[in-house]
Amino acid sequence: MKKIIITLDGYSSCGKSTLARQLARELNYIFVDSGAMYRAITLYFLRNHVDLGNDAEVKQALTEINLDFEYNDASGASDILLNDENVEAMIRDMLVSEHVSEVAANRYVRDFGVAQQQKLGQKKGIVMDGRDIGTTVFPHAELKIFVTADPAVRVERRFKEMYERNPNITIEEVTHNLEMRDYMDSNREFSPLRKAEDAIVLDNSNLTKEEQLATALQWAKEKIGQ
Ligand code: DC
Repeated sequence: MKKIIITLDGYSSCGKSTLARQLARELNYIFVDSGAMYRAITLYFLRNHVDLGNDAEVKQALTEINLDFEYNDASGASDILLNDENVEAMIRDMLVSEHVSEVAANRYVRDFGVAQQQKLGQKKGIVMDGRDIGTTVFPHAELKIFVTADPAVRVERRFKEMYERNPNITIEEVTHNLEMRDYMDSNREFSPLRKAEDAIVLDNSNLTKEEQLATALQWAKEKIGQ
């Protein structure tokens, strides 16, 4: 059966990863959360005090980073490994969230991330979510989905997710972080977040997870030719 590349892009916390994971499971495709890759790079930079203003330091640090994915039976998805260490939980912390957009805007980090993502998609049969997947990483992907949701809905979803891990988190902190990342991700110089011209918009503000999956699955099946 024909294998395709499916890209899901959009703002922070609009449910891209959940949909991408479900879609990959239904189609028996590989799922890649590209945001997790930028988060793991950010964690490495924070731990090693890499100065983003120093190109040589950034380039050197990137040569020391090895990213991999490992299937997690409990969650039914892949965890990210940073130099063989499972950092899946740690990369979701607020500290990483506060710095990731700045790190992801760096041109060397972007070149590194994009090259790794393109390699993962060589054999197709992949669903990847992020910000620039349909525009820069896989501009020729067969199905591109641009996911959106009302900002208030996104804040609520993110808050719930973070509250489970940190009950001290406030709505204000979450709102501020989302607004800041949306702004930085959309206004950076290299690969800013924008909808690819040939992407289909999926607004899931009023859709259940089942409804959005059914919609996306229908689009995928049309492209695959089933
Ligand atoms: O999807 P996420 O919120 O986990 O992504 C974390 C950050 O990584 C996001 O604020 C911007 C960056 N990112 C990116 O620049 N390009 C991607 N393809 C994916 C994420």
